[in-house]
Amino acid sequence: EQAGKGEYDHFMLKEITEQPTALAQAIEGRIDPTSGRIGLSAFEPGSFEAIDSVQFVACGTSYHAALYGSLALNQAGVQATALLANEYSVAAPPVDETTLVIAVTQSGETADTLNALRQATAEGARTLTVTNVVGSTAAREADDALFIRAGPEIGVAATKTFSSQAVILTLLGHRIATDLRGEPSADLESLLPALESMPSRIHELLEHSDAEAIAEQYRDSRSYFFIGRGLGYPVALEGALKFKEITYEHAEGFAAGELKHGPLALVTPETPVFAIFTGQEDEKTLKNAEEARTRGAPVIAVCPDGHPAVEAADEHLSIPETDSDLAGLFANVQLQLLSYYAADLLDRPIDKPRNLAKSVTVE
Ligand code: AGP
Repeated sequence: EQAGKGEYDHFMLKEITEQPTALAQAIEGRIDPTSGRIGLSAFEPGSFEAIDSVQFVACGTSYHAALYGSLALNQAGVQATALLANEYSVAAPPVDETTLVIAVTQSGETADTLNALRQATAEGARTLTVTNVVGSTAAREADDALFIRAGPEIGVAATKTFSSQAVILTLLGHRIATDLRGEPSADLESLLPALESMPSRIHELLEHSDAEAIAEQYRDSRSYFFIGRGLGYPVALEGALKFKEITYEHAEGFAAGELKHGPLALVTPETPVFAIFTGQEDEKTLKNAEEARTRGAPVIAVCPDGHPAVEAADEHLSIPETDSDLAGLFANVQLQLLSYYAADLLDRPIDKPRNLAKSVTVE
């Protein structure tokens, strides 16, 4: 096992640093440089024309990627919802042959997600699995499968697979939107070059991150809060899940605008607030962060250098200026590093947190 970790103390850090390669593999051959279109070879142009709506089903980190994908689809004008797979049997909206149900699962073996997929199939929906594992049960059982090609992930905490899922769902979302509209959306012009430069920019972020120093600075906090808006919201949820999963400290993620509807009562000088800025209504998120700061909470802005939030916050985790479809994924890498270093300071068993399994094959 030690050999597999190479120079790293933990698989988690190894897998975080593998993200440039994982993302390059995820997009390889999927962007057609001549037409500037998205080429997902499993799907001929027009293959999604008969789809009216999309439902994503997933659990945990994969649910956060699914939420990211569903918001991106909504923003492209397609009706889409992300549902927790373990709630699907009691809370599924109706489906028919015009519904595309997309199971998002790194392992392809999560029992809750398989159950939701089987229910959707039985009720007549079209199904698709987005997974990392070729030959997995979910890949075999769905009508179609799309592989994220992240390479093996050993650490229980999902890291590189989240980034690869979110990127593949962004590409897929644009393909679906293109089929439904009959032409690619204008935003593809900025998205595709931003995607192509993502691996090298993540590499740069990893080289210059201040996450370790910030983990050290706030190590004695009582709770850790993460806020974001739009595509920053699933990233806030994911930041908190990763933090609690491997540090065993209390962490919560909120939609930035929700803070004032209850969670603000928890905010004190001992609860750092990590505010994620993705370029979607950032001025509102800044206002929400300032509301927390006024109550004494230290605010750590996760945003590009030179962003107004840098001045307004106590600390800064830097992300590059990029397309707003992708900014949250850079922020997420900073938050992965933060969780990793916070857990390492506490000497937690990072790759195998207590009570958790890599693949949850029970209901
Ligand atoms: C995340 O760090 C966890 N390991 C967990 O939430 C995981 O994402 C969830 O159990 C779903 O797993 P899957 O992607 O293999 O379906």
